[in-house]
Amino acid sequence: MVDLSIEFAGLKLRNPLIAASAGTTKDAVHCKKAADAGYSAVILKSIQEELVNRYNPFPRMSVIRNGIPGYQSTTFMTYEQAFEGEIQDYCEEIKKTKDMLDIPVIASLNCTNEETWAQYAVRCEAAGADAVEIVPSCPVGAFVREAAEFYPAASKALKNVKEAVKIPAGLKMTGQMTNPVICARNLEEDGADWLTMFNRSSGLQIDIDTMEPIMHKGFCGHGGPWVMQSVMRWIAASYPYVSLPIAATGGVTNYEDVVRYMLSGASAVQIATLIYMKGYDTAKIILEDLEKYLEKHRLYKISMLTGIAADKVLPLSEADRSRRYYAKVDYEKCIGCQKCFPVCIYGAITQKDSKPVIDENICDGCGLCSQVCNRAIIMKQK
Ligand SMILES: Cc1cc2nc3c(=O)[nH]c(=O)nc-3n(C[C@H](O)[C@H](O)[C@H](O)COP(=O)(O)O)c2cc1C
Repeated sequence: MVDLSIEFAGLKLRNPLIAASAGTTKDAVHCKKAADAGYSAVILKSIQEELVNRYNPFPRMSVIRNGIPGYQSTTFMTYEQAFEGEIQDYCEEIKKTKDMLDIPVIASLNCTNEETWAQYAVRCEAAGADAVEIVPSCPVGAFVREAAEFYPAASKALKNVKEAVKIPAGLKMTGQMTNPVICARNLEEDGADWLTMFNRSSGLQIDIDTMEPIMHKGFCGHGGPWVMQSVMRWIAASYPYVSLPIAATGGVTNYEDVVRYMLSGASAVQIATLIYMKGYDTAKIILEDLEKYLEKHRLYKISMLTGIAADKVLPLSEADRSRRYYAKVDYEKCIGCQKCFPVCIYGAITQKDSKPVIDENICDGCGLCSQVCNRAIIMKQK
């Protein structure tokens, strides 16, 4: 039997899946759905101090099916605002959620004035919140803190909250800055109990007929499975320099994504978009698959995954450039789909009876045809 439980910033979690702050955790009823599906903690929808950020415009969701034809890509773009209520309503929701759930309930704050962070945190703690996530990183709001503006605001908020409450306080970072590793190190020194990497980033989509931005003509939050590689890159880069637990967030759709985030250095994973698009119960499948994965790899505790791949990242100077490869077709497996034809910029692929013929001498060995084929073209060492 494998053990999916983790210790995260002083919280005991039954597994690494946390329901991220979003409409999917907007109140106790929604948080209960997440808990019933297996999530180990819930982060309530953020409360924002700025009033205009509390009220949603409608409609506010856009699913952009973008990218190269034949290859999947999705962008989930939303103009979703914050918890619709005052801090006392938020605290009531924390109390209700605590009554209904037997897993940690985390409050999520985004304030405008320096002193309000601590005031809100104190009230959330008094209402029973098990921890608080500080979110200066909202991608859609009256003002968005990114790049050089982020750290000073995050640092002040964190220090104020840490002085005011005893519960753990995490910091949800934005990835929209020059060097998240430096920011992560500084936030650790400032006293963060965990780091969440990263909130969604601020984006824009334009309707080419009206020639106007869609979604209330504003910048809004966007993300999708395509953010994962960038988030993983920064988690892996931060992991050797930061001893805090990291919660990864962005683009998780299945157990493989959870495993990858943990291997890159995360201790837990926060999920929102998957719940919106496929429902709460997707967590059950992910958890079952995680157990099978651990059994297959003879790992008895999921926390053993954290950082394994981060420790193997090599600098550019150490990449093995000594071996050359060429692409070879296995004609028994080739179905003649012709996906490989357009991708060879070297002109090594010609066509015979709708199947590819690869000239080993012209083949560069880049591996792209093998990637788009995924079945019949394999890379052989020269
Ligand atoms: C519709 C929507 C609303 C969100 N609202 C919040 C929020 O209020 N506070 C917050 O910290 N993050 C918010 N997020 C970000 C999520 O918590 C999560 O970190 C992010 O979407 C990346 O994970 P995902 O790809 O699984 O969605 C929201 C995301 C979505 C899609």
